[in-house]
Amino acid sequence: MSHKKFDPTRAEALISAERYHELKPDIMLQKLGIPPGSTILDLGCGNGFFTFPAAVAMGSGMVIAADMSEPMLSLLRQRNTPDNIQILQVEEVKMDIEDDSVDAAVLIALYHEFKTPLDNLTEIKRVLKTEGKLLILDWDPLSEKERGPAKAHRVEKKQAMNDLKAAGFSVTTDENYTHDMWMIIANCNT
Ligand SMILES: C[S@@+](CC[C@H](N)C(=O)[O-])C[C@H]1O[C@@H](n2cnc3c(N)ncnc32)[C@H](O)[C@@H]1O
Repeated sequence: MSHKKFDPTRAEALISAERYHELKPDIMLQKLGIPPGSTILDLGCGNGFFTFPAAVAMGSGMVIAADMSEPMLSLLRQRNTPDNIQILQVEEVKMDIEDDSVDAAVLIALYHEFKTPLDNLTEIKRVLKTEGKLLILDWDPLSEKERGPAKAHRVEKKQAMNDLKAAGFSVTTDENYTHDMWMIIANCNT
């Protein structure tokens, strides 16, 4: 698979009002169905598009805002994160997070940037609790290319579902969330 990392000089666009209006993180949180008090891993958090709404929804719980890019994490730090956001720099695959410690993981516009997605899914499964949930939202290569990454850098929903199955997840929901982004929600079986 082809992969290309996000350019941090374009980070402002990730937290535009238009993007919030279109992608509706609160609806994603509802679909995920994780109660307040839980721990969510926002992997590839960037400058915090999903991190802040998730922190509000988790209340006394916690959001682990993880990214491999120090420039992106630096932009997130500048936004004065509340106490229940833990910022963590991770490697391409490996994360310094305990086994079986996270209730849900969310990957927004990240999957197509993974170099070896199966390794990432295996690492995510390691940190998820039994029955933990995973939500993935990413660009559809089958849609018209009006914006976003090149078609050659996108991953088909069907491919991501096969990857999830191979990594030991069960897909519970798959849908076309917007006209050019698909969403999958999966359960960690073990
Ligand atoms: C397109 S941005 C999306 C950021 C955020 N999820 C959002 O939707 O606004 C992708 C982010 O994933 C990060 N990233 C890419 N590969 C990664 C990896 N293997 N592990 C963690 N973060 C990664 C990039 O540094 C970038 O911040």
